Amino acid sequence: MDFKSLIDTEKLPAHVAVIMDGNGRWAKNQGLKRVMGHKNGVKAVRDTVEGAAEIGVKYLTLYAFSTENWKRPKYEVDALMRLLISSLRDELPTLMKNDIRLKAIGNLEILPEKGRKQLQEVMQKTEGNKHMTLVLALSYGAKDELTQATKKVAELVLEGKLMPKDIGPDTLENHLYTSGMPDVELLIRTSGEHRISNFLLWQIAYAELYFTPILWPDFRRANLFEAIYDYQHRERRFGKTSEQLKS
Ligand code: IPE
Ligand code: IPE
Ligand code: MG
Repeated sequence: MDFKSLIDTEKLPAHVAVIMDGNGRWAKNQGLKRVMGHKNGVKAVRDTVEGAAEIGVKYLTLYAFSTENWKRPKYEVDALMRLLISSLRDELPTLMKNDIRLKAIGNLEILPEKGRKQLQEVMQKTEGNKHMTLVLALSYGAKDELTQATKKVAELVLEGKLMPKDIGPDTLENHLYTSGMPDVELLIRTSGEHRISNFLLWQIAYAELYFTPILWPDFRRANLFEAIYDYQHRERRFGKTSEQLKS
């Protein structure tokens, strides 16, 4: 089915986030090493990013590396970091062509120097792009993010710049990595796993969740369009009753 033509572009999710999972299993199924799964995952990233920009999604966040992924074997972590550097370099023209701005969220300080520099370079070069914001979650963990936001708020209180009674959801939100971005409205996870794996806990508070068995290297824009079509056929009640929404 051609889901693209069925999508209502006036009702796109303001922010789509993707847990790109299943690279290792994809490789294993083909009799290849895990790292080959990651390499083939880059094609899926390119197609998904272009597809999102094509229909007019404003924010796309991709979970590329979690705080827990540092615990993987060193050769796999090293390969992922090398792949990050080469993909950032290779994808810059695609980002420019599609008017996409790159941002990154996570504990970026602990990324290898070369990766951090390449990331900075692409973020700088795409800074003025307006059509879509692509957010890479790298060395990202939601518990880390909430912990560092809490520390910042505590410091403001200690410095006398903030009273505890004035702390509201916005206060915390302003200190998240995603400050200034809309909440996630559609969260997609590939590979058939039904868990969040420490991704955007705060920002997905009211997201619609979409799970697909497709392994990440096989994911293409048509699959994104199907997920958005599915999202558009759900009733988002935000605590209200169905009748209230209709009146
Ligand atoms: C997702 O694929 C990529 C990263 C987590 C970096 P996996 O590497 O987790 O693949 P599976 O889940 O082992 O198949
Ligand atoms: C989540 O996938 C992290 C990324 C996609 C970057 P994992 O494969 O690391 O998650 P678990 O281990 O299955 O929870
Ligand atoms: Mg996995």
